[in-house]
Amino acid sequence: MSEKELWSGRFRRQLDPGAAAFSSSPEDSVLFRYDVAGSIAHAMGLARAGILTRDECNAIVDTLRAIYSRWRGKEAEFLKGKEDVHMAVESELTRLQPGCGAKLHTGRSRNDQVALDLKLYSRDALLSVVRSASSLAAALAAAARGNLRLVMPGYTHLQHAQPLYLSQNLLSHHWRIMRDIERMKFIYSSLNISPLGAGAIGGSSLPLQPAYTAKLLSFSAPFDNSLDASSDRDFVLDMVYGSCMMALHLSSMAEEIVLWSTSEFNFVSLPETLTTGSSLMPHKKNPDMAELIRGRTGRSAGSLTALMLTMKGIPSGYSRDLQETKLPLFSSVDNITGMLGVMERMVKGARFNRAAMLAAASDPLTYSVEAVDELVRSGVPFREAHREMGEAVAESLEKGESLGQTIRRRRPGISYPSSPYESVEMRSTRGSSSADSISAQLEESSRRRSETAAWIRAASGRAASVGRLLGE
Ligand code: ARG
Repeated sequence: MSEKELWSGRFRRQLDPGAAAFSSSPEDSVLFRYDVAGSIAHAMGLARAGILTRDECNAIVDTLRAIYSRWRGKEAEFLKGKEDVHMAVESELTRLQPGCGAKLHTGRSRNDQVALDLKLYSRDALLSVVRSASSLAAALAAAARGNLRLVMPGYTHLQHAQPLYLSQNLLSHHWRIMRDIERMKFIYSSLNISPLGAGAIGGSSLPLQPAYTAKLLSFSAPFDNSLDASSDRDFVLDMVYGSCMMALHLSSMAEEIVLWSTSEFNFVSLPETLTTGSSLMPHKKNPDMAELIRGRTGRSAGSLTALMLTMKGIPSGYSRDLQETKLPLFSSVDNITGMLGVMERMVKGARFNRAAMLAAASDPLTYSVEAVDELVRSGVPFREAHREMGEAVAESLEKGESLGQTIRRRRPGISYPSSPYESVEMRSTRGSSSADSISAQLEESSRRRSETAAWIRAASGRAASVGRLLGE
């Protein structure tokens, strides 16, 4: 960083090289695209406010576009040794357009500029995470549809609870992801507010029109308060929290894959393309991808913790600590993107073992709730019916007979499911595991997924404004 900084007017001495290296932000290369587009919008705003002439504005826009195409793909190289992307782009513009380039930063601060860049990045990142999440949700729904009437034990405390169809399990993961998608959409609408025009903290005495630049960049509105807008990073935490929730869901799904692919469970087998061997034990086929998803959830949670600790004591107005919000954001977006992609492949490639699931689900003890319900239907209060069936369970275990036999002896009139299928089908209320409920869930899923597809189209339309400003 040997050349003089653009802010160096009041300084007689240059920044210490160690301090310069310590404070620079090479991670800014991710923001390059958004920084240039934001600067183009700002230049257009300055022209509209009469601060730049049309010619000056055109020269700035053309040069910024030229810098964009020249640096694109090689951002890291061009940012090397620079304080940040904002300074790098502005110095290059001023080198190429010494006259008007020096006017670009009028009425702007790096504080509103970096907030803007981060919002534009977040909008794109969020859109691509929603895209990946909804294709995972579609894969889960397809697996549920493709494996109808495969009965399996449902677990609580990892002990046999009640039989379910596999589709109910797959759809339970699918609904979690659908909730994650809704959360992301909400985060999108709360972040889609432009901070450009907030300046360092206090807006501007020049006739800037934040609503105009907000519109150029397809934001839904400009900021309400310049002090808040210049240092707000709520959206960064929201993004990371939203990704972290997804990661937690994927991790629990991954844990199930690991468990189900053990020889003991043997409910699922993964394709060879998604498993790995052992360097010593020739027979091994390990579910490493699932384990990595489970393991990398720690990274997402770490990013969230880092951000909360960074943000906790910052007073109103920009402080340099805010620079530290970028890496956890980028890292958690990259992390969740990788996890979603691999999980989708695993869901598509998984083969379920009907016989092993059926054998595990055919434990008549697990139909005991249907027997209680049968007693309730015949007028016995639930608590008494529960005790009576509990006693029948104890008796059947003592006598070494099936629960059905014991019940038939104690209560000859009470019918007891003769198979896990019967037990599942008796539970037909909304959202339960019966075949009818599964098909209702599948229908609702495709309705909601097409809503999300429409949302994705609208958000892609907004994202295109950045490309248009860049002349792509
Ligand atoms: N590199 C800085 C960041 O990422 C840009 C803003 C610098 N602003 C300042 N007042 N020093 O936050």
